[in-house]
Amino acid sequence: MQVETQVSEAFRQLLEEEKLNSAQRQIDDILIDYRSKPGALIPVLQHTQNIIGYLPPVVQEYVAQGLNLSPSSVYGVVSFYSFFTMVPRGKHIIRVCMGTACYVKGGSIICKSLQKKLAVSPGRTTKDRQFTLEVVRCLGACGLAPVVVIDDDTYGQVDPGKAVELLEPYYK
Ligand code: FES
Repeated sequence: MQVETQVSEAFRQLLEEEKLNSAQRQIDDILIDYRSKPGALIPVLQHTQNIIGYLPPVVQEYVAQGLNLSPSSVYGVVSFYSFFTMVPRGKHIIRVCMGTACYVKGGSIICKSLQKKLAVSPGRTTKDRQFTLEVVRCLGACGLAPVVVIDDDTYGQVDPGKAVELLEPYYK
């Protein structure tokens, strides 16, 4: 069985830039597996994000075609669920808490020094795709303020002047 999708030039270009030449075949296989199943969209998007790393509009259009859906319905799902992302994400996700308890204890200084060190603004990913910097509102550990979470590691009572040192183990 074939997937009847028109591959746009933008989609082709994206795969080329990301050096993901086999991605189209992998996504086609997933579309074939799921296209007749109810509720296919979310698992297809999850698999596709695992392959490409994110779901920009050209990828959403490809999935929409493959599942016979409108691009707007795919966009609706991608933008609704926080586990989907339309922009590239880093290998490591840094979350800096800016809730009240953390803010008053230096959360914004921590954020600024990480921004400077990584040369990215919150919500963005470094060029080498090593780190994504995020700002969050309360991580539920206010007693440890100020708090930074990197991947699954929680750092409490972070010294704002030494926040960049937290990154060291993640460069390897
Ligand atoms: S305000 Fe930072 S953990 Fe609650």
